[in-house]
Amino acid sequence: MRRLPIGIFDSGVGGLTVARAVMRRLPNESLVYVGDTARVPYGPRGAETVTRFALQLARFIQAQRVKAVVIACNTISAIAPEAVRAASPVPVVDVIAPTVATAAAATRTGCIGVIGTVATVTSGIYPRLLGQARAGVETLQHACPMFVPIAEENLAEHQVADLMAEEYLHGFRETGVDTLILGCTHYPLLKRAIGKGVGPDVRLIDSAEPTAEALANLLAAADLLSDGPARYRWCVSDPSYKFLQIAGHFLGRRVEPEVEAVTLE
Ligand code: DGL
Repeated sequence: MRRLPIGIFDSGVGGLTVARAVMRRLPNESLVYVGDTARVPYGPRGAETVTRFALQLARFIQAQRVKAVVIACNTISAIAPEAVRAASPVPVVDVIAPTVATAAAATRTGCIGVIGTVATVTSGIYPRLLGQARAGVETLQHACPMFVPIAEENLAEHQVADLMAEEYLHGFRETGVDTLILGCTHYPLLKRAIGKGVGPDVRLIDSAEPTAEALANLLAAADLLSDGPARYRWCVSDPSYKFLQIAGHFLGRRVEPEVEAVTLE
């Protein structure tokens, strides 16, 4: 059981930022990553569609015989965490709960900003969970859908990233927000532009590290930590998608030749 892989899934490539943190935090663990590159993005879609797609990802991951699951997508974690848990006989970690705990502990002003996809922001899950984590906390949210294609087009250092960050984030300035949750797994690639957009005094909270830490704690508590060696599988529903081209930016290493084309149904 301990040597079984951890299943990690996302709507596409964004979850690789979480996989990267898991590989660093748990270097002995094997991973099976699945990205639904045929249907990304999920962020503009309705709850019913996101839930249907999320269940197909969850079922695929279960069929790979995994010992734990990481929902490495804020949109799925916001819309369908219960559905995924109900379909998963193994422990499930989502990206939102660990991130909320980190942000609630980090803020001094009690005013937390959240950016994410339209689905994540409209779900209201961050304000709800932040309110439960810390009484009196104020949450300001803004959807930043254009950050996803900017990250995927490798334009993080281009002025288009700075222009969009200014457009989306200027409203957070002078609000008392001292902590900003990057509530989408693509956004860590845009940390420089996002930091510039909100100003230097705002701490950015990336969901990857808190999620990897939560997973490590869960595996340790369940006596499920592996002593290696780690093996990695990278599965995508559309291999012609520019996954190979951009995965390296998200993961920090090459994914070839291990990429597999899979069917989600
Ligand atoms: N990875 C998704 C998330 O974290 C963003 C991309 C999408 O819209 O599917 O919400």
